[in-house]
Amino acid sequence: MSGQPTGQLNNQRAFITGGASGIGAEMARRFTREGASVVIADVNDTLGKAIAVEVGGEYVHLDVTDSTAWDKIMPTFEPFDIVCLNAGVSTNSNVFGAITNYPFEHLDNDSYQHIMSINVDGVVFGARAVIPGMVERRSGHILVTASLAGIVPIAADPIYGLTKHAMVGLTKSLGAALEPHGVCVSALCPAFLDTPLLSEETRQNLNSLGLGIMEVSIAGDLAMRALTERISGAQWIVMDGQAITQYIPAAPFA
Ligand SMILES: NC(=O)c1ccc[n+]([C@@H]2O[C@H](COP(=O)([O-])OP(=O)(O)OC[C@H]3O[C@@H](n4cnc5c(N)ncnc54)[C@H](O)[C@@H]3O)[C@@H](O)[C@H]2O)c1
Repeated sequence: MSGQPTGQLNNQRAFITGGASGIGAEMARRFTREGASVVIADVNDTLGKAIAVEVGGEYVHLDVTDSTAWDKIMPTFEPFDIVCLNAGVSTNSNVFGAITNYPFEHLDNDSYQHIMSINVDGVVFGARAVIPGMVERRSGHILVTASLAGIVPIAADPIYGLTKHAMVGLTKSLGAALEPHGVCVSALCPAFLDTPLLSEETRQNLNSLGLGIMEVSIAGDLAMRALTERISGAQWIVMDGQAITQYIPAAPFA
């Protein structure tokens, strides 16, 4: 699935949050193979530096929830052609576990604030920090890692669903706002991919329901498709055994 390198990202520079692991690391590998240079940003310095060495890129420590850090880092590392706002977590290490094990009314404030700060604030702060440079250059692509949980319900982790629906909403609206300025914003909405985000409990639940877990290389294909098509506001979905497609919701005012 991952295809042969095409060189289509030659001379491009990419910034990837959550690039130390899973989907972010895969995008770092794939973008590098396609000719880009990458900067990996994460809070896991050990893994992040290892991926940077592997791909011949750079690493920077960045907690995406720290808006001041964003504003300091960007002027040092810019310009970027591609910015992947990808770092994200689930609420209970249980994105698809047994619903009854995690009653919504038992959600504690710390767990709630933790996921909201990374999955929502972290993307908003990142977009706000990189947009001025992109608009000035009239170029650039912000790739938001949402999830299929941004389009369909995810009953076991409603707050995860909340944050991912928020990312789809942000992508649609910001995409429309920035398209006239030459900047594209699109969202990746994959189903389950084989990354450390999926706990053993989640894997067992998926297995018992006959739901597959895709190889993480699919995330590279998905990102490349979004970059190639360059449709601002678009959501790109992929499910196990199915082709990558643009999700087109019904038009409410038709
Ligand atoms: N794995 C899946 O099935 C799946 C499916 C759809 C969407 N997603 C989304 O993909 C994104 C990446 O998830 P993944 O599956 O690769 O998980 P992962 O756990 O492998 O990687 C997440 C990375 O984010 C980093 N991170 C966490 N908090 C951070 C912070 N405050 N600042 C900077 N970095 C931080 C972690 O250190 C880690 O390297 C997430 O937004 C997730 O919601 C995952």
